[in-house]
Amino acid sequence: MNQNSLDPGWIGKTFDDFLFRPCKGRIESRSLISLNSQLTRNISLELPIVSANMDSVTGRDMAETMALEGGLGVIHRGQSIDRQAELVSRVKRSHSAVIENPLCLPVSATIGQARFFAGRHNINGILIETRSGSGILAGVLTRRDIPWQRDADDRPVADFMTTFERLKTAPPNVSTDDAERIMFEGRFERLPLVDSERRIHGLITRKDVRFLRERPFASKDNKGRLLAAAAVGCTGDYLERADQLLRSGSDCFFIDIAHGHSQVMETALDRLKSGFSGIPLVCGNVATTDGARFLRDIGADAVKVGVGPGRGCRTRLETAAGVPQLQAIRETWSAVGGDIMIMADGGIRHDKDIFLALACGADTVMLGSALSGTDEAPGRVIEDPATHSKKKIYRGMTSPEAVLESLYDTDDGEVVDAALDTPPEGQEIQVPYKGSVVDILHRIRGHLRSAVSYAGESSLAAAREKILPDPLRFLVPLSESSRRESYER
Ligand code: XMP
Repeated sequence: MNQNSLDPGWIGKTFDDFLFRPCKGRIESRSLISLNSQLTRNISLELPIVSANMDSVTGRDMAETMALEGGLGVIHRGQSIDRQAELVSRVKRSHSAVIENPLCLPVSATIGQARFFAGRHNINGILIETRSGSGILAGVLTRRDIPWQRDADDRPVADFMTTFERLKTAPPNVSTDDAERIMFEGRFERLPLVDSERRIHGLITRKDVRFLRERPFASKDNKGRLLAAAAVGCTGDYLERADQLLRSGSDCFFIDIAHGHSQVMETALDRLKSGFSGIPLVCGNVATTDGARFLRDIGADAVKVGVGPGRGCRTRLETAAGVPQLQAIRETWSAVGGDIMIMADGGIRHDKDIFLALACGADTVMLGSALSGTDEAPGRVIEDPATHSKKKIYRGMTSPEAVLESLYDTDDGEVVDAALDTPPEGQEIQVPYKGSVVDILHRIRGHLRSAVSYAGESSLAAAREKILPDPLRFLVPLSESSRRESYER
C-alpha cells in the first residue's frame, strides 16, 4: 500500500481540513469518560498525551508532572548522558510508593554533611547505615533532628538520629495499605523496610503514599514509581546512553531521529534490541506507509509519526520533505495500525487536533509547543516591560540555539556531527507564558472527553473502535468559508 491506495479524501489533509460530525450522545456525565490508551502493548496511559523530548519542553519537572497527570514525559538527549540519566532517576525517585534504594549516610557522617546532603537531594529524612555502604540500618535522621546552630556541624549524626531500636520498621514485602496503616497509627512520616538482619530494602513515606492515592490516574510502573521515558539517538554514544538510562530506571526509550526510515535506525534498533531486550522502543519519525512498515518489521513497539508539522520545525521549508500530518497518521494506521501503536507527533495547535489525531489512527499524541511556555518546561520566564507580557522560549532541537547549547553539555557524537554538518532545520520562537501545565492538561482532558461525547461513546477506546475503520464517514471536509466560520473568532 502506498499513498495511491489511500482514499483520496485523505490526500493533502491535516487537522484544519475537517470537522467531526456529532453523533447521538449516550452518557450523563462527561467526567466518567475514560481516555485510557496504549503507548505500547505493555504501557497504557490514562491521558494519551506525551511531552516532547525537546530541551524547551521536557526536563525533570515536566516529566514528573506529565506522569502524575496520567501522561508521560520524554527526557531529551541534548545533554550529557550523566545529566539525562540523573533526571530520569529523579523522576523515578519522586513520589514513588516505595523508594527502592533510599539515600543513606553512615553513622560517622557529620551533621554538617547531613545538612548539605538533605539540601542537595531535597529530602527530609536520611537513613543512617552502620558504616558507609553496609546497607545495615542504624537509625534515621530527619531535617527536624538537624540543629539550627552551625556549631553542631562537626558532631556525628549518631548523636541526633532516632536509633534503630526506637524506630518503627516493616518487612520488605509489606503492602502499601499496611504501610499506610502502620504510619497512620503511629503518626510516623516514614517507614524503612528492612529484613531480619536489618538490611535496608526500601523506604515508604506517608507523604508519597497520600500523594499517589490522591492521583489514581498517575502513570506508574509495577512498583508504584512514576513512569519516565528518555530519548536516545542512533549513532555516537547511544548504546552507552541507553545502558545508563536503563540503570537509572527509564521505562521506555524513544529512538528519535529526524528521518526514522533509514539504515542508521535499522542498525541502532538491532543493537538496542539485542543489548537491552524487553524495554519498549518507540521509534521515529516517519510519515509514510513504507516508513511505518519498516519500523514495525525491524521490531519497533510503537511508531512516532510526523515529518515537519512541528512549530519549531523548518524541515518542510528547507527540504520540501514531509506529509500533511492527518494524512500521515491515516497512512501509517492503514499500514501498521493494530500491529504496533502509533504516536502522532507535531502540529497540534488546538485541542480538537488531538481528538482528530486519535480518531484517525493515533493511539497517543506528542506535544511540544502546546506544553511549552509553562512553569514545568525548562527555561525562565522573560518579561517584556513594554507590553507587560510574559514569554518563554520554545525551540526546535535542530535550531542553531538548541544545537549550540547542547554542544556544551553533550557527549553525543550525533549531536556534534549534526551541529557541524547540517544547516538548521529548526527555529526558536517566543511563546506566551501559560502558568502550570497541570491546567493545560486539565483543559485537554476536558475537551477530549467532550469530543468523545460528541462521538456518541463513553470512552476514547470505544470512540476509536467505532471511527477508525472509516473516519471519513464521520468527518466533514471544510471549504474556505466553512473553515472561516469554524475558526475565525
Ligand atoms: P509541536 O508542533 O508540538 O511539535 O511543537 C513538536 C515536535 O517537533 C519536532 N521537532 C523538530 N522538527 N526540526 C524539525 O523538523 C527541529 O528542530 C525539531 N525539534 C522538534 C519533534 O518531533 C517534536 O516532538
